[in-house]
Amino acid sequence: MSPLLETIGLTRHFKVGTGLTRGVLHAVDDVDLAIGEREIVALVGESGSGKSTLARLVAQVHKPTRGEIRYQGQPLTTQRGRRAKLAYRGDVPMVFQDPFASLNPAYRVSHGILRGLKLHRPELSGAERQAEAERVVEAVGLTPAAEVLSRFPYELSGGQRQRIGFAQALAHRPKLILADEPVSMLDVSIRIGLLNVMADLRETEGVSILYITHDIAGARYLSDRIAVMYGGHVVETGP
Ligand SMILES: Nc1ncnc2c1ncn2[C@@H]1O[C@H](COP(=O)(O)OP(=O)(O)O)[C@@H](O)[C@H]1O
Ligand SMILES: [Mg+2]
Repeated sequence: MSPLLETIGLTRHFKVGTGLTRGVLHAVDDVDLAIGEREIVALVGESGSGKSTLARLVAQVHKPTRGEIRYQGQPLTTQRGRRAKLAYRGDVPMVFQDPFASLNPAYRVSHGILRGLKLHRPELSGAERQAEAERVVEAVGLTPAAEVLSRFPYELSGGQRQRIGFAQALAHRPKLILADEPVSMLDVSIRIGLLNVMADLRETEGVSILYITHDIAGARYLSDRIAVMYGGHVVETGP
């Protein structure tokens, strides 16, 4: 059986500098990485090793310089049209290090979740949307859901905001969550709660997770496999 998602020789170069200092930076170089259904893969590596660029390539924020991404056995380049791209974005959402990056401070928590539901699951009625919004908030361990949905982001703690980041991703019924250092800005005492949220989401929602982190102990605690990045390459993969 083919993995849920697979990168083959995935490469992204950036042109950097000007004039005499002009050069090409190999941010991601020839990366083969597979993520199975319901698998949690941790991606670790020093700052600048290419972890975020790899995640952005998979999220289709960046175009690859070379190489291929296969999703459910199909190369992404064969996806044509707005609907297919939207469906992929719903299937493979990103959660960021800074929860404010995915939460609009001017709107209540419900706004982003309902907006995602309207976009990715237009078949739901208004009442079904509300029920689903409450369900995803409960799925990340926040209660009472209706009350949490009515809060503004600044009325939540950092850990709660990050849980809402996951709830927003969940609203799409994702297959693979790309979590780019989701706990790095949180106190150590709060991190374990978020790691357990991710572990639960795999069990209850059946998602796969690419968990990007600096924290090898956390990676070991949460993931099935760890891939180590260095200088744009995945230099080692193992349990
Ligand atoms: N948009 C960009 N333009 C130019 N260089 C970039 C860009 N994005 C990332 N880089 C460079 O690519 C390398 C990898 O960055 P990144 O993927 O953010 O690493 P990590 O997430 O592991 O810290 C770094 O040297 C970074 O400066
Ligand atoms: Mg990064």
